[in-house]
Amino acid sequence: MTTAHSPKLSTPPGQGTQPSPPPSMRLRELAFGAACAAALRAVARLGVADALGEQPLPVADLAAAVKAEPKPLRRLLRAVSCYGVFAEQEDGTFAHTEMSRLLREDDPHSLRYITLWCTEAWTWDAWPKLDEAVRTGRNVVEELYGKEFFVYLNEDAPESADVFNRAMTTSSRQSAQEVAALLDLSGASSVADIGGGQGHVVASLLEKYPDMRGTLLDLPRVVENADPRLLPGGALADRVRIVPGDCREDIPVTADVYIIKNILEWDDESTARCLRNVIEAGGPKARVVVIENLVDDTPSMRFSTAMDLLLLLNVGGAKHTTRSMEERLTAAGLVIDEISPVNPYLHAFDCTVPA
Ligand SMILES: C[S@@+](CC[C@H](N)C(=O)[O-])C[C@H]1O[C@@H](n2cnc3c(N)ncnc32)[C@H](O)[C@@H]1O
Repeated sequence: MTTAHSPKLSTPPGQGTQPSPPPSMRLRELAFGAACAAALRAVARLGVADALGEQPLPVADLAAAVKAEPKPLRRLLRAVSCYGVFAEQEDGTFAHTEMSRLLREDDPHSLRYITLWCTEAWTWDAWPKLDEAVRTGRNVVEELYGKEFFVYLNEDAPESADVFNRAMTTSSRQSAQEVAALLDLSGASSVADIGGGQGHVVASLLEKYPDMRGTLLDLPRVVENADPRLLPGGALADRVRIVPGDCREDIPVTADVYIIKNILEWDDESTARCLRNVIEAGGPKARVVVIENLVDDTPSMRFSTAMDLLLLLNVGGAKHTTRSMEERLTAAGLVIDEISPVNPYLHAFDCTVPA
């Protein structure tokens, strides 16, 4: 062990001193993947990344700052630093790394809420039932909690719903500007974001096009907490309509362009109903832009396939391949005009409702 009082290692532990472990150990490490996820969750919940500034700190100081016991905190930090989240220094202090900084709440690219979301309490109920989901092809959440995932989240797990909304806020804030930069909506006078979360995409598009009107449709509890720019008194409020609703039931919104981003990841019936409602609402010649992560075109298969399995567990859904997305859009009656990358993780399927 490297502490302030023990002989120093020439290179801190877990920092590349070890050769790659043999397959038998690598498999053991993989089987213990839950320990890594739990350790990241604990670090995020304790707020260790926020307590550490630019200077390395002794564990005792960090423990006092996050109200934890120093000895178990050292063990926790040693566990995550094996993965490059914090780095133990030769004098036993801990310093930030590129990854640990992303756990800070104030980092502009913060992944704190994404980390919490991926490890929420319900996920620990659901993962042990993955074999069951693979056998049946159905979600396990309804059997676990007696209701659909988003209904469960909003009715029974408000803290988890809040983490979800914050995680979505982080990731959609980061991608909304890229979506707005990619999409050329000149010639259109209105845009609707279906299942648009808190409305970052619609807000970015209204900022890009000062004469455009917009609509945000999402579940009631979600739009209540829409981006302040869209709410009464906000800079874009007079150009936006907020519609609480269920896009599988009805889309009472007329617009020239419909955006559907990271929604069509649930069961096929829900995807078909949502697309049918968009086509009915927009009518012939409406433009429909579907934006999704694709499992066959991604810089991280590990992340994309993990999300894909989580979607199977919670909504009986899936991340799409280019082909499975094309099939669903075409089956709904849309014509796909173009598929283009928004960023390395997201692709836009630009479609038209035929005349
Ligand atoms: C993965 S998030 C994507 C949010 C947003 N489009 C984005 O890309 O940031 C899925 C969204 O679908 C919404 N949602 C789930 N079921 C819905 C339904 N039946 N009708 C409308 N929105 C729904 C959720 O509330 C959530 O905001």
